[in-house]
Amino acid sequence: MMKIPAVLTLALLSLTLCTDGKVTRCSLAGFWKNDLGSNMTIDIFENGTFIGKYLTAVSTTNKTILQSPLVGYQQPTDVPLFGFTVRWSFINSITVFTGQCFLDESGQQVLYTTWLLRSEAQNLQDNWSQTRYGCMVT
Ligand SMILES: *[C@@H]1O[C@H](CO)[C@@H](O)[C@H](O)[C@H]1NC(C)=O
Ligand SMILES: *[C@@H]1O[C@H](CO)[C@@H](O)[C@H](O)[C@H]1NC(C)=O
Ligand SMILES: *[C@@H]1O[C@H](CO)[C@@H](O)[C@H](O)[C@H]1NC(C)=O
Ligand SMILES: *[C@@H]1O[C@H](CO)[C@@H](O)[C@H](O)[C@H]1NC(C)=O
Repeated sequence: MMKIPAVLTLALLSLTLCTDGKVTRCSLAGFWKNDLGSNMTIDIFENGTFIGKYLTAVSTTNKTILQSPLVGYQQPTDVPLFGFTVRWSFINSITVFTGQCFLDESGQQVLYTTWLLRSEAQNLQDNWSQTRYGCMVT
């Protein structure tokens, strides 16, 4: 039997930080939120590693949604490439994200992200069914 993994809102996160004046570089640091109401907070260290918390707004399971930790790495540029992992704290799944932080025409910071969500297979035969993939443009 195929287990249905939780479909989490991993959709595009758009920056909602209030910024005064013109932004010239994109920074992952801070609070991000997407249209579905999911959000995350990121703290970046000088060495490029970062940690944060991801709070999804939706899931297909009936489990109570809890804030989940994330750990990542970014390249130190003005439009940084990044990758991070979320260990969902309320379900047995892991999601990896990779993408780039951009400034759009209006100077807003946006994240273009691709993700893979892995859930547990009960046996080798079910392995094929337990990875989901998604792309997001915000
Ligand atoms: C990066 O810096 C943080 C905070 O100082 C530290 O905890 C972490 O171990 C460092 N990571 C690497 C890979 O150096
Ligand atoms: C973050 O998302 C959660 C889940 O949708 C929501 O309950 C919470 O209010 C949001 N936090 C902020 C600061 O918007
Ligand atoms: C969630 O709960 C509802 C109502 O109790 C039930 O109908 C539904 O099948 C449950 N969904 C999952 C994924 O367990
Ligand atoms: C396990 O499943 C993943 C997709 O979920 C697939 O990419 C991989 O090739 C599978 N591994 C084997 C050994 O079948």
